[in-house]
Formats: sequence, structure tokens, C-alpha cells
Amino acid sequence: MQLKRTHTCGEINAQLIGQKVRLSGWVDNWRDHGGVFFVDLRDRYGKVQVVFQPHNEAVYQIGKKLRSEFVIAIEGVVQARPPEAINPAMASGEVEVPVAQVEILNASQTTPFEINEYVDVSEDVRLKYRYLDLRRKQLQEVIVFRHKLAQLTRTFFTKENFVEIETPFLTKSTPEGARDFLVPSRMQKGKFYALPQSPQTYKQILMIAGFDRYFQLVKCFRDEDLRKDRQPEFTQIDVEMSFVDEEDVMAVVESYMAYICNELLDIQLQLPFPRLEYEESIRRYGSDKPDTRFGLELNDLTGIFNDSEFKVFRGVIDAGGYIGALVVAEAAGYSRKQIDELQKWVMAMGVKGLAYFKFNGAEFEGGLSKFLSEAERRQLQEELELREPALFLIIADQRKEFAQNVLGFLRNRLANDLDLVDESKHHLHWTVNFPLMEYSQEEQRYLARHHPFTAPRPEDMDLLDTHPEKAYARAYDLVYNGNEIAGGSIRIHSRDAQAKVFQALKLTPEEAERKFGFLLEALSYGAPPHGGIAFGFDRLVMLLTGCSSIRDVIAFPKTASAIGLMEHTPSEVSEEQLNELGLTIRK
Ligand code: AMO
Ligand code: AMP
Repeated sequence: MQLKRTHTCGEINAQLIGQKVRLSGWVDNWRDHGGVFFVDLRDRYGKVQVVFQPHNEAVYQIGKKLRSEFVIAIEGVVQARPPEAINPAMASGEVEVPVAQVEILNASQTTPFEINEYVDVSEDVRLKYRYLDLRRKQLQEVIVFRHKLAQLTRTFFTKENFVEIETPFLTKSTPEGARDFLVPSRMQKGKFYALPQSPQTYKQILMIAGFDRYFQLVKCFRDEDLRKDRQPEFTQIDVEMSFVDEEDVMAVVESYMAYICNELLDIQLQLPFPRLEYEESIRRYGSDKPDTRFGLELNDLTGIFNDSEFKVFRGVIDAGGYIGALVVAEAAGYSRKQIDELQKWVMAMGVKGLAYFKFNGAEFEGGLSKFLSEAERRQLQEELELREPALFLIIADQRKEFAQNVLGFLRNRLANDLDLVDESKHHLHWTVNFPLMEYSQEEQRYLARHHPFTAPRPEDMDLLDTHPEKAYARAYDLVYNGNEIAGGSIRIHSRDAQAKVFQALKLTPEEAERKFGFLLEALSYGAPPHGGIAFGFDRLVMLLTGCSSIRDVIAFPKTASAIGLMEHTPSEVSEEQLNELGLTIRK
């Protein structure tokens, strides 16, 4: 390479007129104007128009060979464009560089899609050719934003006296509710490491070791069903602190959020963030991470329909179930077809139907209205303070929280369909007072809602023996525009209390010893009271940049079926490797 660059393409502007520059980059765009050949040269800083003119014969002949995505280096003197050729859409739009020397550094095949953010390409193709996708401006900006957020995170926590400490990837199962990714050991045949679902046990042990303020930007690995906001490997901002209670952890998180929002988006957040109790959140929004940028809250109609004649409601009431409704003014004009479509959608989640009727401003009509008694009509009008026309969408189910959850999903869908969300808003709130455990029908035992190291409220300790489902956790989740972006808790720091929680989770003492013996032992050597939290770093980037998928903020993400389309992962391994590990694949 002879022509080493003196400037990046993004630096070229009218102030450099008359100056000789050398530039390198990709051919973004070329236009043969019969006689003059124009190229937009692109690097990650910007674009510049460079011009190949016929009077410089050797250079011109090379110029004519150039095609999109060729990599070139050029030299020339920056000059003003003729007034009619000025392009205000380009930072370098007032100037161009006539090429005095050119070097082709590499050719390119015709790319499977244009390197242009406005070109619509299927995600699979984008992921297969991720290096081409990553050349696009929008993705480059997100990746740079992500870098800035990482730097600000380190600056903030360092200033607050936290120490960044790395923890192992080849480790033991750390239960966060997903399956483990396992790594077979060659040296200890038949044994496996688990990749960490989070560094939870290590950060607690660091507290026991006396590092009273720890943080880390760390990869976590979870084998679970993927969605738009989940990846099998993702990054956390992991935080742990000693000698603290809930308020201390939440205060650090709030000032971190205020700091980054101010630095990156120039937004001043109101502190402290509001808090919503878990039960209230489920009751009002059908979710523990509600989007509070719009209303459309759930209405509990169980009481009003107590004497209902409608057989579905009757059955649910008699079985002690729940009847809840969304009352949607904006959907008062919905057609039968639109309602049927919503019914199909909620039924796919497992509810038996979606009842509806309309209020037209004076009376009830359509759908189930014929089953409404006089008393029910009056109560609905009075208790819901009905004035405006509205559509009632009703779910009745024996499983109360399930019905509420489905209404919560429907609430989000309607907000989206009806455009009820003000996208310029940034709503942050805490969900607090979670139940400690939930009963799993599948496993016929209680499971920890967060992880088994979460401290119960001290006054609920005795409930663990009798009614574990009634115990509350000292846990908190941070919700940002309807997304859970961080979750944490105060931990158990006494060995006996930890053993008791394991017992309530139906872990036998032997199992507890085998899985977490090291932690139990460490807790018996002077463990300080401690607590912490972890942010989903990718989710945070996604929300701050306004992206709708977590895959758009990760340089090399996996597909929804956990496949790396570019490098073809996962892949088969050789017989020899399997032998070394003492493994055979069952057909
Ligand atoms: P939790 O399991 O809630 O807590 O995880 C913390 C945050 O990580 C993000 N997150 C994910 N992001 C992308 N893809 C995933 N598959 C994924 N799973 C979780 C979420 C979530 O809020 N050790 C505890 C934290 C603690 O108690 O301190 C933990 O991992 O944004
Ligand atoms: P069916 O008698 O099952 O055909 O239901 C009559 C009406 O009640 C239909 O409009 C269903 O959508 C509705 N429906 C049935 N089950 C439920 C339910 N669990 N919750 C709400 N509406 C229901």
C-alpha cells in the first residue's frame, strides 16, 4: 500500500480546499458521466465524492474499472464543487477530490445486497453476510453507541469506587431459570463445565472476600427459547455491593441511569424512579414489566359478573376464577373481523375465548350485550365511569394471573395497533415486592422467582416452612418503557437461612451440598450483608438507540434458533475430538 491515508472521509470539508489529501475506503457508489467518472468513497466516518477525469489517462482507466465495494486509496487536492453540484445532504457535499493517484487495494464481488440502510434485506441474508451488513451506517452507529455506553459504564462505576473483576466462564451451573450450556472436559473425562447463566455466585463470593463494590461487563450464557429481546449469549452490567439494603442499590442504579441518559441522549431523568408493587402491577397491567407510557389498564369485572347468566362467565365465577376486561375507547369502531382476529391471537396463548361488547355512549350493544342484566349494565356504567363509546374485550379464566397476563399482552398489542405509545417518552420505574417463590405444576415444587440466593423479607422467614408462596423477596426489577432492563436483590448472607431456602425449594441437603457447597461454606466464614443487580446491557443499548430487536445491537448475533449463520454454529466435530472427550453422539 503506497497511498497511506492522511484523513478519513468524514474529515473532508470546505476548510480543506486547496489541500492535498490521501483517502482510503470502499466504493459506495459510482457514476459514469461519459467522460468523467464519479465515485463516492466511504469509510466509517463519512463519504466523499472523488472524480476521475480523462486528462489523467492512467488514473482514468483504473477509475473506470471500479465497482461497488472495491477498496481503494487515492490522492488529490480538495476542491470546491461547482455551485449546481453542491449536495447539502452530504457533510462533504460542498467539495470533491479530483484523483491524481489511485491504488486498487482489493476488488469485490457483486454484493448480495446494497450497502445502504434504506435497502430492505431479509435478516437471514444480513446475518450470513454480517460483515457487509456491518458496513451499513445505521448498524455502525449502533455499534459505536454501544462502545460509548460501555465506556461510560466503566467511568461511572469506577468513579463510584467499584472494582471491575472478571469471573470464570468454565464454571458450575448458576441457576437463573434457563438450561446450561455445557462444555465437556478432556482432562476430567465424563465431567462438564457449565457456562455461567450469570456470575451470581462469584460476585457474592467477591463480597465475602472483601471487595465491597464490584462490577463487570460480562457475557452470560442461557439455553432458552429466544425472542426479540433474548440471545443465548448476552452481556450484563453486573453489580454487587456490601453493607447495603435495597435503597442503596437502587440509588446507585438511578444515578447511573441519570448519568448515561444525560451523556448519551441529553435527557434529564426525574429521580427517584416511581415504584410499583408486584401485585398492583399485575392487577393494573397484567405484567410485572408494564409499559406505563399509556393507560389502558385492566378492569376486574369479577364482582360485577358475580350473578352472570352467561354460561362461560357463570362457569368461571363458580370455579372461583377471574373476569377481566380492557375498555378501549380508541377501538370503539372495531369491526367484527378485527375483533375475531384479536380473539384468534389471544386464544393461541391458551385462553378459551375473548368476549366482547360495545358501549355506544348511552347503551351496550353487540357481542355479549344481550346477556347483560339491568344491574350489570348499571354497574358497568357507574363503576367504570363510562361516557365515551368504547369496546369491551373480556377474558374469563379460572387461572387469575394467567388471564391477567394475557390481557397484559393484549394491552400491549392494542397500544401498538392503535398507536397509543408516545415514543419520545422515557418511562423508568421499579417493580418491587415480588413473591419469593412460585409453584411449578410441572415440577410439583416451588421454584425461586429470581434465583435461590435472593433474601426473603426477614418477617417472612417462618413462612418458608408453612406457606412459601406467601413469602416476599427483597428483590427489585428496573423497567424501561415496558422492558425489564435490570433485576437484582438483597442476598441471603447467613448459611442457615440459605439452607432453609434450599429446603423450601426441595433441594435435599446432599443436592444443595453438591451444587452450592462452596457457597454455603463461604457464607460460614464471615459473609457481609450484601446485594446487587444486573442490567441486560444489550437490551439497554436496544432501548436507548430505539432498535426493535436485540440482534440489531450485537455485532454477531445468533438467529432465533440459536444459529450463527455466518460462521455456521453450532457445528459437528470430528470423531477424534469426541474420542478425546470420551463422548459418543446418540443417534
Ligand atoms: P436476571 O436473570 O434478571 O438476573 O438478568 C439480568 C438482566 O439480564 C437481561 N437478560 C437478557 N438479555 C438478553 N438475553 C437474555 N437471554 C437475557 N436474560 C436476561 C435482562 C435482565 O433484567 N444474577 C442476576 C442478577 C442479580 O441478582 O444481581 C441475574 O442474572 O435485562
Ligand atoms: P362458546 O360458547 O364457547 O362458543 O363462547 C361464546 C362466546 O364467549 C364467544 O364469543 C367466545 O369468544 C366467548 N368466550 C368463550 N370462552 C371465553 C373465556 N374464557 N373468556 C372470555 N370469553 C370467552
